[in-house]
Amino acid sequence: MSSHLRVTVPLAGRSYDVLVGNGVVRELAGVLPAGVRRVVIVTQAGNPMTPLADPGVPFEVLEIPDGEQTKSLSTVEDLCRSFVRFGMTRSDCVIGVGGGLVTDVAGFAASVFHRGIAVVHVATSLLAMVDAAIGGKTGVNLPEGKNLVGAFWQPSAVLCDLDALTTLPPRETRCGMGEMAKYHFLTGDDLLGLPLAERIARCAAIKAEVVGADERESGRRAILNYGHTLAHALETATAHQLAHGEAVAIGLAYAARVAHELGRIDSDRVREHDRVIVDAYGLDNALPAGLDHDELVDLMGRDKKVVNGLTFVLDGANGVETVAEVPADAVRRALTRMPVADGRARISP
Ligand code: GLY
Repeated sequence: MSSHLRVTVPLAGRSYDVLVGNGVVRELAGVLPAGVRRVVIVTQAGNPMTPLADPGVPFEVLEIPDGEQTKSLSTVEDLCRSFVRFGMTRSDCVIGVGGGLVTDVAGFAASVFHRGIAVVHVATSLLAMVDAAIGGKTGVNLPEGKNLVGAFWQPSAVLCDLDALTTLPPRETRCGMGEMAKYHFLTGDDLLGLPLAERIARCAAIKAEVVGADERESGRRAILNYGHTLAHALETATAHQLAHGEAVAIGLAYAARVAHELGRIDSDRVREHDRVIVDAYGLDNALPAGLDHDELVDLMGRDKKVVNGLTFVLDGANGVETVAEVPADAVRRALTRMPVADGRARISP
């Protein structure tokens, strides 16, 4: 048995473990729910973990293409039709082997096939390990915006095999760092001071605690969207030229400026955001040049967590929390306070 760290996502009757370590993909057969007789592995071409994923029962591998356009209802339909052809029943299991795109799509397909069958995730990107594969948010995009169709569908287990990270492209690593910087602001934890396995397990534990307290985001879970209001708008406005974690890093810097405009934090705390994002996590905090602020404000108004006017997750005296009815002029002013990309990441004056 490989040595690994274990984090439990505590959900009454549906608790599950996240295993973190080198070689944990070998635990796959042992984490499948009892009674599974067939498995479909959903993955992408060339994922080095896929040949190592042995569920111990007959299985078929389905590859989905790369790129945000793959996160669509038509991909889910294709997958479900393949599940039927392979004879998958209600007691069988989908395994998502990949990054956030795969775990979102595979999880959603599992959630609707036969009105819901089991899913296990083998997270192979840093972003999936610290965020996307944990917590049961699954879904696909519509042309009108990201993740607008989906379901809460918890996996039966999540395996985070650190061996997958040795071949991860630098951009993918940056994306994971964007979500990790988010956890830094939620907790103040010095995550970068921890060895890699413990760092990933700590992020998983932060997320597990929040999800355990508010699985369906009726309140506290929204803090996991820190930095995401602008991030989702940027992904749409740039036609996904900015990847999710890159956009989250910029969104964190922006959320600090919105909080400052509302008098919730002082300028030192804004600078602290920039320092953590740029210096500690090596990410860019600048808006891409040439974006139309009206379009960004409009896109932010369509965010899923909008309950009342423009809604943001913002830092403040009580920590990070959801703030509704943020005045549009503060939202616009904060955009003008953002550094604009000129090839160099910038610290606020
Ligand atoms: N990625 C935010 C959440 O899972 O709630």
